[in-house]
Amino acid sequence: MDTQILSGKTVSSAVYDGLTSRINTLKTKGITPGLAVLLVGEDPASQVYVNSKTKKFSELDLFSETLRLPVETSEDDLISHIHILNSDKRFNGILVQLPLPKHIDSDKILNTISPEKDVDGFNPVNLGNLTAGKPTFIPCTPKGIMRILSHYDIDLSGKHVVVVGRSNIVGRPISILTSLKSPMANATVTICHSGTKDIFQFTRQADAVILALGYPEFLKGDHIKEGAVVIDVGINRLEDNSDKGYKLVGDGEETSLKEKASALTPVPGGVGPMTIAMLVENTVEAAERSL
Ligand code: GUN
Repeated sequence: MDTQILSGKTVSSAVYDGLTSRINTLKTKGITPGLAVLLVGEDPASQVYVNSKTKKFSELDLFSETLRLPVETSEDDLISHIHILNSDKRFNGILVQLPLPKHIDSDKILNTISPEKDVDGFNPVNLGNLTAGKPTFIPCTPKGIMRILSHYDIDLSGKHVVVVGRSNIVGRPISILTSLKSPMANATVTICHSGTKDIFQFTRQADAVILALGYPEFLKGDHIKEGAVVIDVGINRLEDNSDKGYKLVGDGEETSLKEKASALTPVPGGVGPMTIAMLVENTVEAAERSL
């Protein structure tokens, strides 16, 4: 099938172009949007993610600072750091990279971030607003998915969307966003997860499948109907014979999916670049709200 490739690189470039004038306006008013990143421990994937987020901030001449804390940092210490950042005017946004070490209660931490600075949209106040369809900071990856769909004019209204995965970071919020009575959304949504019997029975009925389970090449062409849209949030390392010893693959098997899907986000270069673009957008919005 002639599958349309939904490029997050293209859409994120358009987002950055659109942000330039907003950033310049803020700067003429003496405000440089600023982000504080808290990274606890040495998780290699988290370090890569945090580095690419802060690199983008510096490329755009925005302000960011990363506080790297040792893995044994106590919950109380982390909470104290957040309190200080909540009242530090240099930072419009605060991001605590997840996952946190096991001895720290993530919910308690996310609760401590001021909702006005919660550019990840993980504070329960913002999640509550999202659920109610009220204006709020929308978590970056789900927001990026909606932006890709609207850029390519893929209207989900009246369609059946099957979300695979129920994480608080992607699966749950994207299931809410796609079901809202709002432009390009308004879908009928099914959420599948580890407790679902025969997930493929559902994916085969979907007009759009959103994959956010973190299992390499889980979904194959046989598991979707002809013409379905596939949004792949997974980034997994699959060992191979290359010099690197691995390749990056999504939660979908690209080759077989391309035989049936009408549109597909590639991995890499699909949803990934959108997460950072939406983080920048949310931070710019937080700075504008602070005026
Ligand atoms: N870990 C994986 N994705 C994310 C994200 O979008 N934000 C944060 N803070 N942590 C993550």
